[in-house]
Amino acid sequence: ATERTLSIIKPDATNRNLTGKINAKFEDAGLRIVAQKRIHLSPAQAGKFYEVHAERPFYGELCEFMASAPVVVQVLEGEGAIAKNREVMGATNPADAAAGTIRAEFALSVGENSVHGSDAPETAANEIAFFFSGLELVG
Ligand code: CMP
Repeated sequence: ATERTLSIIKPDATNRNLTGKINAKFEDAGLRIVAQKRIHLSPAQAGKFYEVHAERPFYGELCEFMASAPVVVQVLEGEGAIAKNREVMGATNPADAAAGTIRAEFALSVGENSVHGSDAPETAANEIAFFFSGLELVG
């Protein structure tokens, strides 16, 4: 079925001017960018977005990193978009990411791993609503 998923191009990637190269990977895989904006999160906003990880030892570092520079938040649409996006991103740790994936090519470390993508339909719906209003989604 056609799905939507929330994607974030992270500070390590925007800092290195990789937005276009990463978007090309999504588009080449058949994902359509139906909403996109560049924003600079506050640490509190990053903390709210990553609330599910609040108990993890890397939470503080993660929130600080996500607020360290602008990010590009976007909604990707396509057939099986959630799984397809995860395939294009590659494994969370770039050391484990398959060749040709975004994280294999661009990520610096497990923390500075260039992109985030929703992991399931329910989280995708919640994460999209966190950043976008219905009016901003132009399929
Ligand atoms: P993301 O898909 O954005 O969801 C949670 C993020 O936490 C994950 O990608 C990683 O970037 C980050 N993360 C996971 N494990 C670690 C770790 N050990 N140290 C720092 N960051 C981590």
